[in-house]
Amino acid sequence: MCGITGYIGYREAYPIVVKGLQRLEYRGYDSAGIMMYDDGNIRVSKTKGKVSDLEVITNSNEDSKKGNIGIGHTRWATHGVPNDVNSHPHTSMSGNLVIVHNGIIENYDTIKKELVSRGYTFESDTDTEVLVNLIEEVKKQEGCKLGKAVQLALTQVIGAYAIAVFDKTKTNEIVVARLGSPIALGIGKDNKEFFVASDASPFIEYTKEAVYLEDEEMAIIKLGKGIKVRKINDDSLVDTKTQELQMSLEQIEKGGYDHFMLKEIHEQPKAILDTYRGRMLADKGIIRMAGIDDNLKKFTNADRIIIVACGTSWHAGLVAEYLFEDIARIPVEVEYASEFRYRNPIITDKDVVIAISQSGETADTLAAIKLAKSKGAFVFGVCNVVGSSIARETHAGAYTHAGPEIGVASTKAFTTQITVLSLMALKLGKEKGKISTPLFHTYLQTLQLIPNKVEELLKIDDQVKYIASVYKDATNCLYLGRGFNFPVALEGALKLKEISYIHAEGYPAAEMKHGPIALIDENMPIFVIATNKGHYEKVVSNIQEIKSRAGKIIAVVTEGDETVKEIADHVIEIPDTEEAFTPLLTTIPLQLLSYHIAVMLGKNVDQPRNLAKSVTVE
Ligand code: F6R
Repeated sequence: MCGITGYIGYREAYPIVVKGLQRLEYRGYDSAGIMMYDDGNIRVSKTKGKVSDLEVITNSNEDSKKGNIGIGHTRWATHGVPNDVNSHPHTSMSGNLVIVHNGIIENYDTIKKELVSRGYTFESDTDTEVLVNLIEEVKKQEGCKLGKAVQLALTQVIGAYAIAVFDKTKTNEIVVARLGSPIALGIGKDNKEFFVASDASPFIEYTKEAVYLEDEEMAIIKLGKGIKVRKINDDSLVDTKTQELQMSLEQIEKGGYDHFMLKEIHEQPKAILDTYRGRMLADKGIIRMAGIDDNLKKFTNADRIIIVACGTSWHAGLVAEYLFEDIARIPVEVEYASEFRYRNPIITDKDVVIAISQSGETADTLAAIKLAKSKGAFVFGVCNVVGSSIARETHAGAYTHAGPEIGVASTKAFTTQITVLSLMALKLGKEKGKISTPLFHTYLQTLQLIPNKVEELLKIDDQVKYIASVYKDATNCLYLGRGFNFPVALEGALKLKEISYIHAEGYPAAEMKHGPIALIDENMPIFVIATNKGHYEKVVSNIQEIKSRAGKIIAVVTEGDETVKEIADHVIEIPDTEEAFTPLLTTIPLQLLSYHIAVMLGKNVDQPRNLAKSVTVE
């Protein structure tokens, strides 16, 4: 995980690097650090805690901010507890080389022993300090320049990395490399300045020109000369393509909201619209998706679809299971990527694997894709981050177009994933002749109304806030749903636990009586999704069972519902829609509820403890 950033050029590097780190804090925020180079001096400032804690330190020493070259790091700890010493940047024993690293060096212990036998000593417990000293040792042994030393050192390394290395004896360059962790390079005018970052957000106000490194590539960034990219393993030069960034500054700022999560919840009407814009022509009864159109036979001839994902994206995958089986009549299996990759799954070239990921960088999902490809499956990606590793690794795909999601708890990523998956299910249902033309048209017309319905639904914020105030001190909560809304129950529970740290479980409503019902007493809030379609009567019976055990019921119902209103302690009404699309609506109040509870409990909503936005480690 972790975020890295760097600058080399003619501007003051400090504000660029620090602001960049703040934008990358979604990747980890256990500790933060920066190296500035100025007039022969390397100055490293680092601390446990957030970038704001780092600023307290640098503000007390103006010299620590000086210089036109800087590299920075915000950490999600893997090796070594988050403390000042383990924070990045790490410096080699001679003091000449400084590194920031995102990833894990798996064989660091073996390398460390070898370096210790050669007289190296270490201050931290990190794999990164081992790597920077390995580079130093190679440089010494080979008598080579930094770029070559980095390249040779990396051929000895097992693991994943995105690194930026600076050499005090070669002050017009920064060397970067990647394997398994992303690196974007920003190119300023006339090669007078360059930016390095885990994604492009730290440099969008300075340049729109970016180069994304691929796995096993490294770049030597030289002031006045430009960027030279080569393969780490065979030394061949890579012909890089510069991309024009589409991201804007407004998209990655809070825009008047207290938290990114709240902003992103409120962005959902537009995000859903952006997801189907240009793809769904409801009036003409057409769905156009290039990734499917170009590979139609793969989908229509598939024996089954296997969906691999993690966390919230896995929940979207579960919704897709209902969508694909119901609408397109294709058998679906939904797998945790982390399990799938290690259990020798049976996959054939008649399988289509769909990988769902907001970040497009999740290590387990990426590994699952590679495994599926090696077994001959056609792999399709549903990603939000354009140009991400998963987007590049899959045979074809569809972007969700949700825009940058900064809050660690996924919100708009989930609803836009469901939107893409709905379009896919409808398109395939039509192509396979499994859905009648009138029903297909009804679905398209209904889907088209969803953004307005979400907009309408967001107006219930005050009601949800009140409910949050009633249940904020609960220590355990249950979330129940059936059919399409069972995954929403799982997602509702995940949202609550990850940002408020209240224990919560999601269950299919009917499973409750096979165990969880024992937990119910007058202190237990139970959030039940009971929309008027699907298994409504069955869910009403489940609600009665809770009531007779004194549980507190908060029900999400379709507007105008009278039956549940009689029984439940609180009801939240959602607009009516087709059952298949109810998750796009029922999710919204549960997101708001988690948000308000976390705010009332004084939790850090956008950066919950122990989490990071993109999980690039196993
Ligand atoms: C929860 C959350 C995580 C992610 C999971 C997968 O709110 O954000 O559970 O969904 O880490 O991440 P992506 O979708 O980036 O692969």
